[in-house]
Amino acid sequence: MEVCVFSWLLTALSVGLYGKYTYAEDWCDHLVVSPPFLLVEYGSPAEANCSVTKTNQTLNNYQLGWESKASQPYTNNESSVMWKVDSLTMWEEDQIICYLTVRRTSCENKVNVTIYKSPDSVTLSSMSDVWVSGDQTQLRCQIENVGPGRKLSVRWSRADPNQKNIFIQINETSFPDLVNKMESVNVTAYLNVTPSREDDGAQYQCAALLNLDKNLKQITSQPITITVHHWCDHLVVSPPFLLVEYGSPAEANCSVTKTNQTLNNYQLGWESKSSQPYTNNESSVMWKVDSLTMWEEDQIICYLTVRRTSCENKVNVTIYKSPDSVTLSSMSDVWVSGDQTQLRCQIENVGPGRKLSVRWSRADPNQKNIFIQINETSFPDLVNKMESVNVTAYLNVTPSREDDGAQYQCAALLNLDKNLKQITSQPITITVHHWCDHLVVSPPFLLVEYGSPAEANCSVTKTNQTLNNYQLGWESKSSQPYTNNESSVMWKVDSLTMWEEDQIICYLTVRRTSCENKVNVTIYKSPDSVTLSSMSDVWVSGDQTQLRCQIENVGPGRKLSVRWSRADPNQKNIFIQINETSFPDLVNKMESVNVTAYLNVTPSREDDGAQYQCAALLNLDKNLKQITSQPITITVHPGIKTHITVLIIIIVLIIIIAAVSISYTYYRCKGKKGQQEGLESS
Ligand SMILES: *[C@@H]1O[C@H](CO)[C@@H](O)[C@H](O)[C@H]1NC(C)=O
Ligand SMILES: *[C@@H]1O[C@H](CO)[C@@H](O)[C@H](O)[C@H]1NC(C)=O
Ligand SMILES: *[C@@H]1O[C@H](CO)[C@@H](O)[C@H](O)[C@H]1NC(C)=O
Ligand SMILES: *[C@@H]1O[C@H](CO)[C@@H](O)[C@H](O)[C@H]1NC(C)=O
Ligand SMILES: *[C@@H]1O[C@H](CO)[C@@H](O)[C@H](O)[C@H]1NC(C)=O
Ligand SMILES: *[C@@H]1O[C@H](CO)[C@@H](O)[C@H](O)[C@H]1NC(C)=O
Ligand SMILES: *[C@@H]1O[C@H](CO)[C@@H](O)[C@H](O)[C@H]1NC(C)=O
Ligand SMILES: *[C@@H]1O[C@H](CO)[C@@H](O)[C@H](O)[C@H]1NC(C)=O
Ligand SMILES: *[C@@H]1O[C@H](CO)[C@@H](O)[C@H](O)[C@H]1NC(C)=O
Ligand SMILES: *[C@@H]1O[C@H](CO)[C@@H](O)[C@H](O)[C@H]1NC(C)=O
Ligand SMILES: *[C@@H]1O[C@H](CO)[C@@H](O)[C@H](O)[C@H]1NC(C)=O
Ligand SMILES: *[C@@H]1O[C@H](CO)[C@@H](O)[C@H](O)[C@H]1NC(C)=O
Repeated sequence: MEVCVFSWLLTALSVGLYGKYTYAEDWCDHLVVSPPFLLVEYGSPAEANCSVTKTNQTLNNYQLGWESKASQPYTNNESSVMWKVDSLTMWEEDQIICYLTVRRTSCENKVNVTIYKSPDSVTLSSMSDVWVSGDQTQLRCQIENVGPGRKLSVRWSRADPNQKNIFIQINETSFPDLVNKMESVNVTAYLNVTPSREDDGAQYQCAALLNLDKNLKQITSQPITITVHHWCDHLVVSPPFLLVEYGSPAEANCSVTKTNQTLNNYQLGWESKSSQPYTNNESSVMWKVDSLTMWEEDQIICYLTVRRTSCENKVNVTIYKSPDSVTLSSMSDVWVSGDQTQLRCQIENVGPGRKLSVRWSRADPNQKNIFIQINETSFPDLVNKMESVNVTAYLNVTPSREDDGAQYQCAALLNLDKNLKQITSQPITITVHHWCDHLVVSPPFLLVEYGSPAEANCSVTKTNQTLNNYQLGWESKSSQPYTNNESSVMWKVDSLTMWEEDQIICYLTVRRTSCENKVNVTIYKSPDSVTLSSMSDVWVSGDQTQLRCQIENVGPGRKLSVRWSRADPNQKNIFIQINETSFPDLVNKMESVNVTAYLNVTPSREDDGAQYQCAALLNLDKNLKQITSQPITITVHPGIKTHITVLIIIIVLIIIIAAVSISYTYYRCKGKKGQQEGLESS
């Protein structure tokens, strides 16, 4: 506001002071150009006028003119001047300027000039003679002599087969290379199209588009209508896939069914590793081999080629080879319950290896021939094996008694995509032996005195199963008798002196399997002597003393203990156990030993006449052997305390007796004296 007021003041002052002068600036509002901009086709004439409109102020001594590349007309003191070219061909002429100069000042007005060149031609064509649905192809738009290059783009449009001539823009191609191109150019644009079946009959167009600031010039090509071929619908293979046994003949036919479209100059043929038959312009071709032995032949392809384009139809080929044999066998001649064994399935000449697996199945003893799959063996090593192979598969089986009579089968399984081929072995029936139940030892355990003879018998009781080619025997430290194919074997020693012989084992071996039955052996040695004695010659009541029990040659040491017993003086020979001595040092002693055990005893006077015994005790698992010493009878002497007590009692008695006799004597004397006195007094 302040600036405006100031500016107004300044103007007023200027006018007031220098009113006779005029300045160009004041006239710019009256400098009129017409038209305000020019849009000119290249080579056409062009003109523009510039004039000073009349005003109340008088204007004189001025120049009015045009600046431009093409021409520079001007006039002095005339109210208008014309810019004019007969044929505008100067692409750089993008602006012409009208100026008014009054003495030292000037002002100007610009006219933008836009030159363009409509293309001589816009031509749309297809890069493929034949369009096939699904195959990408190109449309080409050629534009000749259009400018300026920097304002050019190409529009692509398309009309639906059902809505002819209603074109909808689908893409636009721009030309980044031409952004600085002032002049006209020749360009070719391409559009990638992958037609679908529904595009059949569609129309395409392209258009050169000049984006001229205030104006869009669009020059459109003639439309083209496309025909989309889909021969694959008409290219028929039969059968759609082949499953062929190795070495068998195989054939497949490929034909073109008649269509409304005329088809000529084409080739119809097969591509395959075995053979490549083809025909020109015939409607069908046969692929045929007498004996298919090419494992790699997993796909054959029928093709139809029309000039530069082609289409194809594939036939998957699956070749297989049924095995020459599938043989199931057992790795053990004899099956024994609880022993793991193996079944072996041998398959010869089966293919392809990569599609092979082995199925194992089993029928219950009670449900013969109702096989249920129990396992499957696959062959990861063979995943890339196209050809036939020989394989052996194993199944681990640990039979139980209930499996006796069960049946097993194995089968080669070819998993052929749409088809499963299964070739099964003959079943085998297994007999599960459990001989151990029939292996009888007698006696079930042995208790033998050291140095005595011993024997045990082992026999196989008869069963329904035939048993042959076997060995029956004993394992022991003393001896190892055995027999082949006899039903019993005796273990026997004349004098058992081997303390370590704590278990003997009867075994039955049938070829590679065996079972066994054990007999525990307990050897013992009764002591040569068990001697009880007292460590004191004289037993005094209240004094602790010891009893000693000496045991000679008793075994095994680890099973020995000593029992102490006592009979009351009043109940002779009724011994009651009073203590037991064990021998922790001997826990590992298998052999016989000499031991001495002691018992501390502090007798009382009542023990006088009591009897003691000791006994060697062998704790032989199922048996207790006890060997007892001769008893000893003890005489308990009174101790010193008793003597003193008796002495004191005697002394006290003596004193009492003495006192009593003294006082008696006294009173008796006194009585006599009285009597005497009485007698005397009387
Ligand atoms: C010019 O003169 C006319 C009549 O004489 C008058 O009406 C008009 O306002 C004047 N214009 C200017 C800009 O002074
Ligand atoms: C002339 O062109 C310039 C830029 O090239 C633009 O800024 C101006 O507005 C144009 N003038 C007219 C009157 O179109
Ligand atoms: C236009 O064409 C270009 C090149 O062919 C392509 O990359 C683009 O996806 C097309 N755009 C549309 C909308 O189809
Ligand atoms: C365009 O091509 C034509 C002939 O094909 C040629 O006469 C003309 O000079 C070319 N124009 C440009 C701008 O290259
Ligand atoms: C082929 O021609 C028959 C009759 O001329 C017509 O009914 C049929 O629709 C045509 N088929 C195609 C695919 O053009
Ligand atoms: C042919 O095999 C391929 C893979 O190997 C599969 O994708 C296709 O579906 C098969 N074709 C037929 C007709 O079975
Ligand atoms: C399978 O073994 C047999 C003989 O046992 C042999 O003749 C054949 O060539 C073998 N096949 C393969 C594929 O190894
Ligand atoms: C199948 O056999 C394999 C190998 O012998 C074994 O590891 C697997 O446990 C078995 N599967 C069944 C379900 O028995
Ligand atoms: C052995 O045979 C007898 C008669 O033939 C039969 O009763 C018995 O069940 C059979 N035993 C076994 C274990 O098969
Ligand atoms: C044999 O001795 C072992 C331990 O030494 C015992 O487990 C087993 O029951 C004994 N067998 C018989 C028949 O006494
Ligand atoms: C026990 O002692 C007797 C003689 O005192 C001796 O002959 C015997 O070898 C001894 N026995 C043991 C096992 O030490
Ligand atoms: C058995 O004798 C031992 C050693 O002489 C002694 O320590 C223990 O008290 C006695 N046990 C009995 C029940 O008298």
